Amino acid sequence: MDYTMEQYRASARAVQERLGGFVPKTAMILGSGLGFLGDEVESAIPIDYQDIPHFKVSTAPGHRGRLVFGHLEGQSVAVMQGRMHHYEGYSYEAVVYALRVLRLLGCDTLIVTNAAGCVRTEWNAGDLMLITDQIKMFSESPLRGENLPEFGVRFPDASHLYTPRLQALARQAAAEQGVSLREGVYFYCYGPQYETPAEIRAVRLLGGDAVGMSTAPEVVAAAHCGMEVLGLTLLSNMAAGILDQPLSEQEVLDAAAAAKGKFSSLVRACLRRL
Ligand code: HPA
Repeated sequence: MDYTMEQYRASARAVQERLGGFVPKTAMILGSGLGFLGDEVESAIPIDYQDIPHFKVSTAPGHRGRLVFGHLEGQSVAVMQGRMHHYEGYSYEAVVYALRVLRLLGCDTLIVTNAAGCVRTEWNAGDLMLITDQIKMFSESPLRGENLPEFGVRFPDASHLYTPRLQALARQAAAEQGVSLREGVYFYCYGPQYETPAEIRAVRLLGGDAVGMSTAPEVVAAAHCGMEVLGLTLLSNMAAGILDQPLSEQEVLDAAAAAKGKFSSLVRACLRRL
């Protein structure tokens, strides 16, 4: 086990001292190129990861590495601008550490976003997808090691990692905004190399609709500690082998920039309905 309950509490206390009584309710983890919503938080209190004890920094492109507390669409939010990934060399426990601290601070809901490859040939790059479930069966669990009962039980149920109520809310929000929203299963691959065409064919056979290198560990930890979860994916590129062209990080960031408007209006409409 990498972290003790004392360390989680020490991080939470250090953040609390900066918040002056503000209690966040909704944690938001914003993926590659999607962190701009953090800049739109009102009465913002930004705190750099490097200033919080035991926090790791995020080194991935398009990830800023700070928490922003404040209000968005009337909700009290804690926005993670940049997340930690396993491929950066962090254990899964380190990847979910910040989220667990946000739980201790009062967050009971998680909105998680990411950019991912589109596995379905009949969908298009640039589409948005509501995550209905996930597959993360070929890598360790963030819950591996001694269980911390303050967070949850040893063998948590995973039948509804993505809260059905919040899925319904996102469908309504999308309809209200006139944003078309795909629905599907997020398949976690730990990267950092993009998948091979053969791996994507395997993902498709196994039931994945989108493929990405994040999100699934945090969602396991969020559900473990009793949070409700909403997951939204920007399908930033067609997955490997679908088009005859190499995948690149630039393509992902460009797609995120292009989707900014519809992505922001969907997330904001979801927040208003929480
Ligand atoms: N594969 C894995 N992760 C990703 C992709 C992809 O195609 N696009 C964005 N993140």
